[in-house]
Amino acid sequence: LPRLYHEKVIDHFNNPRNVGSFDKNDPAVGTGLVGAPACGDVMKLQIKVDDTTGEILDACFKTFGCGSAIASSSVATEWVKGKQMEEVLTIKNTEIAKHLSLPPVKLHCSMLAEDAIKAAVKDYQTKRAKLSGDSEIEPAEHAAKV
Ligand code: FES
Repeated sequence: LPRLYHEKVIDHFNNPRNVGSFDKNDPAVGTGLVGAPACGDVMKLQIKVDDTTGEILDACFKTFGCGSAIASSSVATEWVKGKQMEEVLTIKNTEIAKHLSLPPVKLHCSMLAEDAIKAAVKDYQTKRAKLSGDSEIEPAEHAAKV
């Protein structure tokens, strides 16, 4: 049989890092819930943010999707931990796909992870803005996609 998936995908699929959920009502938590229209797979990625420094202290995910989506979200949670929110907004799905050596047909699976990171940051910022009485930031659009 031809080897379709890189061993990194199989590793993250078999031993996904940071599977789980945080309380979405926790003001320190940002939740990104996104779906892939192409296949209907859904990914939830959450971050826990240090309010004073803006550092992402922790991250977790739950993905109802293919192996590449699970591996992509697992990698995404590892990459965002310990980083600043502005920093993780620059994470591109192509970097995740490259890291996992995903085949071209599986690029949209890594796109879910990029979208989920952005949606999680946006959700956190929206919550913060609400708490501080500033309503200038729009609610997370991605949350409505699923
Ligand atoms: Fe849909 Fe992978 S096939 S996310």
